[in-house]
Amino acid sequence: MKYHIVVFGCAANVADGKRIETYYEDQGHIKSSSIEKADEVIVVTCMIRESAEARVYGLVRNLGKKRRTLPRIIITGCMAGMIVRDTTGKLLKRIKKRIPTVEFIPVEELGLPEAGIHKNETHALVHISNGCNNFCTYCVVPYARGKEISRPYEEIIKECQDAIAHGIQTITLVGQNVNSYGSDLLNNAECKMQNGELVKSKYITYVKHLGKMRIPTLFPHLLKEVSELPGLVSVDFISSNPWDFSSELIDVIASHETVSRQIHLPVQSGDDEVLKRMNRWYTRNEYMDLIAIIREKVSGVSFSTDIIVGFPGETKEQFENTVDLCKKVGFVKAYVAIYSDRPMTVAHKTLGDDIPFAEKKRRWKVLEELIYKGNKK
Ligand code: 5AD
Ligand code: SF4
Repeated sequence: MKYHIVVFGCAANVADGKRIETYYEDQGHIKSSSIEKADEVIVVTCMIRESAEARVYGLVRNLGKKRRTLPRIIITGCMAGMIVRDTTGKLLKRIKKRIPTVEFIPVEELGLPEAGIHKNETHALVHISNGCNNFCTYCVVPYARGKEISRPYEEIIKECQDAIAHGIQTITLVGQNVNSYGSDLLNNAECKMQNGELVKSKYITYVKHLGKMRIPTLFPHLLKEVSELPGLVSVDFISSNPWDFSSELIDVIASHETVSRQIHLPVQSGDDEVLKRMNRWYTRNEYMDLIAIIREKVSGVSFSTDIIVGFPGETKEQFENTVDLCKKVGFVKAYVAIYSDRPMTVAHKTLGDDIPFAEKKRRWKVLEELIYKGNKK
């Protein structure tokens, strides 16, 4: 059987694509370089914006135009995840109208191996957790991937060691919110270290938020152990959020040269009121303070970020606060996204989508030009 995998979206989907490849290879199936010749097409979908969803419809439609008989098409990833979590059944009905000839199978139900193949590459994506408990009001991820589930600690270390043994030099630790890694393991008291000793007292870091204990996490310890693996040249991580970025994590980065000096720290907006409505748990000043602390402790550090423009109710003044924050931080890269109203999210249910597209586009252009020009200097 010839299979072909198409991946849309983020690094987590790319990592899932690798696991799907491993699964099909293990069963003796053959990778088809062209989608036209495949007997089975597996699409790892993204639902973060409407444009990403539209790409899935385009792919299935084009396949129908190019082939007399359709292959088996398996839709997995975020689209399938949202469908199973939408108890109203509305989403499935809407999507089925667009692509009636496909099967929907959530990633969890594919029976995939935990680790992907890391052969013939120099860079490996290693997933450490799946899902998200944060519920930012614009974001489908908690509905598409469910609640955060961390991979067992030792399994991650083993995948990293195997990857390095296969010639990998750079590892990216992947999760929706890597710096809360392990909080579920610790709450369930399931996480054991090599010697069988429960990690509890020894390696837990309590992430503090606004001076209060928030969640226990193993991420600083995990990052430290990965960064010290013999043979590794560099390790980075995506994505982290500002409110779980602990001082212990900063210390690990500062004291380990193998940890990348470019940190991705999504800010989303530079305006307090917008941040609040986005359900982001930090203020503009707290974000700026965090940047300052990291700069002070980690020499040579630079920052990239994610920003959403045209969030419901974002005034021109509020947008200017984001522009101002970008000028002050001097991001080396920014993924600027035009707000897209997504089903199931709190913003969709309660806030509407009131900024005209032309104005969203204008704001997007202002930031793109600012960050692009900043980088040319
Ligand atoms: N509209 C636009 N951008 C979004 N993102 C997440 N949800 C949306 C949405 N509804 C962006 C955020 C996030 C990145 C992965 O995608 O900036 O950090
Ligand atoms: Fe989405 Fe927020 Fe979770 Fe990131 S932290 S995946 S933006 S809900």
